[in-house]
Amino acid sequence: MKTSDWKQEFREALTGWYREEKRDLPWRHTRNPYHIWISEVMLQQTRVDTVIPYYARFTERFSDMKELAYAPEEELMKMWEGLGYYSRARNLQSSVREAYETYGEVPADPEKFGKLKGVGPYTEGAVMSIAYGIPAPAVDGNVMRVLSRILLIEEDIAKPKTRRLFEEAVMELIDREDPSSFNQGMMELGAVICTPRRPKCLLCPVRDFCGAYHEGREEELPVKSKKKKQQSFPQTVIALRDPEGRWLMEQRPEEGLLAGMWQFPTAETADPEEAVRIISGRHRLTVGPIEEAVRFRHVFTHRIWEVTAYAASVPDRGTPADRSGWFRPEEFDMLTLPNPTKKVRAALGL
Ligand code: ADE
Repeated sequence: MKTSDWKQEFREALTGWYREEKRDLPWRHTRNPYHIWISEVMLQQTRVDTVIPYYARFTERFSDMKELAYAPEEELMKMWEGLGYYSRARNLQSSVREAYETYGEVPADPEKFGKLKGVGPYTEGAVMSIAYGIPAPAVDGNVMRVLSRILLIEEDIAKPKTRRLFEEAVMELIDREDPSSFNQGMMELGAVICTPRRPKCLLCPVRDFCGAYHEGREEELPVKSKKKKQQSFPQTVIALRDPEGRWLMEQRPEEGLLAGMWQFPTAETADPEEAVRIISGRHRLTVGPIEEAVRFRHVFTHRIWEVTAYAASVPDRGTPADRSGWFRPEEFDMLTLPNPTKKVRAALGL
C-alpha cells in the first residue's frame, strides 16, 4: 500500500533486499571507478554471464586508464571480440583517453563525466552512483520496465524522450544515503524478479508498492511500440583453401559495420555463382567446386545478414586484393574475427 511516507519505505525495502540478495558479480567487488565504467559499458550490450570473462580479461590487460587510453586499436578490438557493437569499444577508449588527459582520473562530477564524448546518460548515472555514491539516475530498458510497473507509467518506452520522464521519477525516489544500492537494486530487480515475461511478483521485495501488481497488470507494462524491422542482406561467403591449407581472409573497411575486422571472402549476393565470380575477380584466382558448409542469420541492431557459407579449394593463391592475405588456422587467433565469421570458422572445423 502506498502510505504518505511510501517513498522512504520503498527505498528501504529495495536497498535492504539488494544488500542481502545481490548476485556476487566481479564488478561489485571493486571501488575502482574506471573498472566500474568498463563493466557498465559492457553490460549495456550483453548479458551478465557473457560479460564476466570479458570484464576479467579487459581489466587485467587494460588495468588503468592510461593503459586503455593509448592501447593500439587492434588489441582493443581483440579484447572486445565477440562482445559485438564495436563502436562502443572505440567510444570507451576515446572517452577514457579524454578523461585521463583532462582530469587524470574519472571525474567525480556528473557534469564533467557526462560531457565526455561517448558517455551517455545511462553510463553517467551508473558510474557516478556506483563508483562515487552520487545520486544520479541510471535508466536503461530494465529500469524503465520496473518503474513503469511500480508507478503505472504508460508512456511508450521505445520513444527516446520517455527516458527523461523516468529519470525524473528516479530522482524523486532515489536513496540519497546509498544511491549505488538503489540504482543497482533497480537493475537487479529487473534482471531477476521483474522480468519482461512472467515477473516473479510473489518474490518481489517492493510488491506492496507496485501499482501494476495491485491491478494485475504487470504483464501489460511497459508499453513499448514495435521498432521498424531491420532490413535483410544476403551474404555469400566463399571460404578458400590453398593446397598448403592456408585460407584467404579479407579485412573489412576502416569505417562502418564491423570496421577493420577479418572475414572469409564475402559477396553481398544470394547467388553463389555470382559470389564466386565477384570473389575470383577480386583476388584474381580460380575457384574449384564449392560445397555448402553452413547457413544462418545474424541479427545486428540495424540490419540482418542472411549468411550462406561455402568452402572451395584453389590451385594457387592468385593475387590477393589489398587488405587481404592467406593464413593458417592457427594464425586466425591474431586476427579480430566478428561473430558471424567465427560461426563459419567453427562450421569448417578450423
Ligand atoms: N546491468 C547494468 N549494470 C549492472 C550492474 N552493475 N550489475 C548487474 N547488472 C547490470
